Amino acid sequence: MITSVQNVLITETCGLPHLETKPEMPFTRNILCIGAGYVGGPTMAMIAFKCSQYKVTVVDINPERIAQWNSDDLPIYEPGLDQVVRAARGRNLFFSTEIEKGIRDSDVIFVSVNTPTKTFGAGAGMAADLQYWDKTAREIRKHSRSSKIIVEKSTLPVKTAQAMEQILTCGDNGVCFDVLSNPEFLAEGTAVQDLENPDRVLIGSSQTPQGLMARDVLVEIYANWIPRNKIITSNVWSSELSKLVANAFLAQRISSVNAISALCEKADADIQEVTRAVGMDSRVGAKFLNASVGFGGSCFKKDILNLVYICRHYDLKEVADYWEGVVKINDYQKERFILNMLQVMFNTLARKKICLFGFAFKADTGDTRESPAIRIAKRLMEEKADLVITDPKALNNAKDDLKGVDGNVSYIEDPYEAAAGSCAIALMTEWSLYKGLDYEKIFQTMAKPAFVFDGRNILDHPALFETGFNVFPIGKPPLTHF
Ligand code: UDX
Ligand code: ADP
Repeated sequence: MITSVQNVLITETCGLPHLETKPEMPFTRNILCIGAGYVGGPTMAMIAFKCSQYKVTVVDINPERIAQWNSDDLPIYEPGLDQVVRAARGRNLFFSTEIEKGIRDSDVIFVSVNTPTKTFGAGAGMAADLQYWDKTAREIRKHSRSSKIIVEKSTLPVKTAQAMEQILTCGDNGVCFDVLSNPEFLAEGTAVQDLENPDRVLIGSSQTPQGLMARDVLVEIYANWIPRNKIITSNVWSSELSKLVANAFLAQRISSVNAISALCEKADADIQEVTRAVGMDSRVGAKFLNASVGFGGSCFKKDILNLVYICRHYDLKEVADYWEGVVKINDYQKERFILNMLQVMFNTLARKKICLFGFAFKADTGDTRESPAIRIAKRLMEEKADLVITDPKALNNAKDDLKGVDGNVSYIEDPYEAAAGSCAIALMTEWSLYKGLDYEKIFQTMAKPAFVFDGRNILDHPALFETGFNVFPIGKPPLTHF
């Protein structure tokens, strides 16, 4: 129902037929995704799963990553993803390193390459590093023999789509491109459900007749499983900015709560009692108010710094400073956590065995990008503590993150074994498995006095105290035997 209309649309849009040139092809649309990462992989798997009439190919420059996507051991851990990939792979979902062929054969290209924060030159530490995007745009231009819709899926600073359009349209082969912005709002750990049932899908396009037609093609793709009233459209720049702002708002909630957690610890208040009362105001809402050792993940810090950079670029100093405060409080919260550990453990951590429960930046993912645990681990090693790290999914990434860092660190998957002989457990990630452990048994094996620093406030603090632990939650009075 969609296809012939869409093909005509694209033909009209760009004046070049494409699917019509391959009438034998069973698929009604050829979708390519460049970048098989945390965003590209799950998003394309869901499109293929929901739309068996489309051929969906995901390409990457990293052959190992592609081999993993083609194996039983996917490169990322995401609940439910295995089943979705297994259902579609080989049917209409393909993972490949043949980027050139992929570009040639496709009519819609999602670009989901990484856009890390720049580490060099102008804007270092703040602006997005667009070298991967730039390179991808040039490859698309070089290998395209027919017109295409390009969908920007990575988080990019505002107005990048315009820059991409400029790179893409300067070719002399008569091929034309429409660049759409379609920011990804999925959260790791819940990616599959976020993709299957998103709060909204946002599509930004230029407001020209051609841009609007390209937009409608993408709307039709999502409309295969998402109600139309959840598919919203805007101009390209609003769409790009919305992604940064959504993440800035979410991160701001956590920094706000974490800032108040510091006050609660001084004022003998309980942050969970405060957030319960505040969150019941329907204007505020109850979600995303969990005090923690700090937020992590590949998006929050990067997107806020991007926003700050853009504001500085436009001479909006006060606005830039305001948002930068969200990142500063996050750093402060991590440092506060370490200084508290140091102080209550008698001002020395040297040669004390400390066990980190969890290393991933949140539960249900093996991802450790910007995980607060990285900073905590490095600071503990600076204090010459002997570290033991346990995590059900993130130990390989943890090893990479701490490679070359001076100090003693070991990695043990079994939490009981990991905690044995430790002076303290510092809980970094809210894996539910840590709630169900036998802490009586763990206490017996630990050095005394034994401490628990609950960086996520998920454990049963009174029960731990009864067992004999000295318990230090976030934003509430400690329970100590001293
Ligand atoms: C985020 C956005 O939620 C998502 O919409 C966007 O597409 C990508 O960035 P993600 O980074 O995967 O997703 O995870 P998220 O659930 O937002 O958590 C980010 C960090 O905040 C984690 O470290 C998490 O533990 C922390 N967090 C979250 C808190 O400390 N407290 C909370 O109440 C919620
Ligand atoms: P994200 O969280 O945004 O998905 P990832 O780092 O997980 O980021 O994934 C980005 C992927 O893009 C990586 O697998 C990387 O190898 C791939 N990539 C980067 N540049 C290119 C390129 N020019 N062509 C193909 N793939 C690329």
